Amino acid sequence: MADEHGIVASGLVREFKKGPRAVDGIDLVVHPGEIYGFLGPNGAGKSTTVHMLTTLLPPTEGTATVAGYDIVREGPQVRAAIGAALQEAALDPLLTGREHLRLQTTLQGIPRSERARRGDVLLERVGLSQAADRKVRGYSGGMKRRLDLALALVHSPRILFLDEPTTGLDPQSRSALWQEVGRLAQDDGVTVFLTTQYLEEADVLANRVGIIDHGKIVAEGTPAQLKAEVGRPTVEVVPVDPEDKERAAGILARFGEPCAAIQGVAVRLRTGEADLAEIVRALDSENLKVENLQLHQPSLDDVFLAKTGRSLEGAGEEDQEPELALEPA
Ligand SMILES: Nc1ncnc2c1ncn2[C@@H]1O[C@H](COP(=O)(O)OP(=O)(O)OP(=O)(O)O)[C@@H](O)[C@H]1O
Ligand SMILES: [Mg+2]
Repeated sequence: MADEHGIVASGLVREFKKGPRAVDGIDLVVHPGEIYGFLGPNGAGKSTTVHMLTTLLPPTEGTATVAGYDIVREGPQVRAAIGAALQEAALDPLLTGREHLRLQTTLQGIPRSERARRGDVLLERVGLSQAADRKVRGYSGGMKRRLDLALALVHSPRILFLDEPTTGLDPQSRSALWQEVGRLAQDDGVTVFLTTQYLEEADVLANRVGIIDHGKIVAEGTPAQLKAEVGRPTVEVVPVDPEDKERAAGILARFGEPCAAIQGVAVRLRTGEADLAEIVRALDSENLKVENLQLHQPSLDDVFLAKTGRSLEGAGEEDQEPELALEPA
């Protein structure tokens, strides 16, 4: 099945010579106009998958079509149909943002008369109009990511690959980028394949999410489906007096099965959050003083935990941009 505006991958594998099986049999379908979120921790195989789908790296096994073209046999056609903002943006520190766009519009064969306007529109769209004539050397990490996105959009691609587009961005730039990606999919019908280590990003932005771990897709679906799969909300109760923990657990047990708690005791609710009022009444009628009571809705992190036995939260920490060492040596 080759979809003209989508992505179809079947049994994709990439082995590195002295390395791991970085991608270990990936099957996926991305529908036209869909935002597909590829969520996974460091080293999961996200970039390697993107590199294969964008024809930068041949697969060891398996096949895929992008925009209806085979990634191995029809590389030039694939490349003409896609735009990509990769994890390591290849920008020239000595050129300005505007100069980068001038170069890219020329390379992409945009008619001379349209180049300047096309560049201006894209710079505006990613919020770089003010900085357009500054050299990239002086751009922040977030500004570079935004310029890279603008460059990927020069030839109005039907399919866009974004490899961790918001890593290192401040919350404001992050939501601006989410908005722009959402707009591209919704208004322009662009198909988006986006990798991320951020649960929230996959949750907010993606129509469907594939969770990748050790080169394999361990779960796939809409964020709502995935969360519903791992189940019902949990309630955690922290008694004022730690001695009361056992008694609290006894009361909670009437409402569901015990589960792991951070501080106090917790249950996974049998029926749903409607039990909350009942729980409060039950604790109160038994005179149990409560310091904290929390309802916890299942998150994509719970999905990740359920599928892999590990938590994804915090996995991005080591990936943060290094801080400059300002202390004197
Ligand atoms: N060129 C290479 N040679 C050898 N091993 C590689 C190469 N590129 C990637 N790998 C290995 O393949 C695995 C997957 O790497 P990949 O870059 O695809 O992960 P990722 O999900 O993109 O991680 P991150 O979130 O850190 O970007 C890792 O174990 C990595 O060390
Ligand atoms: Mg990567």
